[in-house]
Amino acid sequence: MSADLIDGKAHAAALRAQVAAAGARFNAERGRPAGLAVVLVGEDAASRVYVASKARATLEAGMQSFTHRLPAGATQEEVLELVVRLNADEAVDGILVQLPLPPQIDETAVICAIDPDKDVDGFHVNNAGRLAVGQDGLVPCTPLGCLMLLRARHGSLAGLRAVVVGRSNIVGKPMARLLLAQDCTVTMAHSRTRDLQAVVREADILVAAIGRPLAIPGAWIKPGATVIDVGINRIEDPAGSGKTRLVGDIDFDSAVQVAGAITPVPGGVGPMTIAVLLRNTVVAARRRAG
Ligand code: GUN
Repeated sequence: MSADLIDGKAHAAALRAQVAAAGARFNAERGRPAGLAVVLVGEDAASRVYVASKARATLEAGMQSFTHRLPAGATQEEVLELVVRLNADEAVDGILVQLPLPPQIDETAVICAIDPDKDVDGFHVNNAGRLAVGQDGLVPCTPLGCLMLLRARHGSLAGLRAVVVGRSNIVGKPMARLLLAQDCTVTMAHSRTRDLQAVVREADILVAAIGRPLAIPGAWIKPGATVIDVGINRIEDPAGSGKTRLVGDIDFDSAVQVAGAITPVPGGVGPMTIAVLLRNTVVAARRRAG
């Protein structure tokens, strides 16, 4: 048996079209496009690629894109000053500070300086708290994208056993809270979990967000489970060609034999993250406009 492939690219394209339409309505009503500001500090190669693709997608959705680049040696005060300026800028509805930041910058302080109503990453403690207690707020993009894929597959998730592997603030914790809000029975597993294999085996829905390549083999997975692989890991091609390739946290080749449905890497969760970022920007713009 072979699992159904969950086509993140197709879901993301549909969401982006919806967001572009909502953005056009906002523009028609308010006389200005929604705007997303992205801050990049330093020269991290991967971050530069991500920031460029966020800016491109923002423009493609008909929204305004503002990219701010600061040098790797920027001080905490310089970053905070920029955030304060963007908070006050009426053309800016969403602010995203690309992580990781250079070591001299206190990430938590920067995130907490962002106006929570413009925090399209959903990382501010106000938004994390809102999600925890079930109030409306801005929700982190990757876990919300995963939830959309799961809802498209299952409809109601009520009563399903969900296992989230990984407890980061960016993915694992908000993912678990979103699944709980959908009435799943949720287990959070992490690096100190005992007998991870037995925990994974319980999952009707398995979300892997640990950042370790091919860490979960198909033999651990419950037959028929829906598997969402958040990992994006670059590894040496084992064939010894000297090339590299992208793999997830799940061993796709064995998991696809067992699961009912699975996201590929690349082309699964990744495309959803940017689509949800655009969605969050329009949501923030509408809320700010009242
Ligand atoms: N770096 C890697 N993923 C993310 C993300 O979702 N948001 C931000 N701000 N930085 C990241």
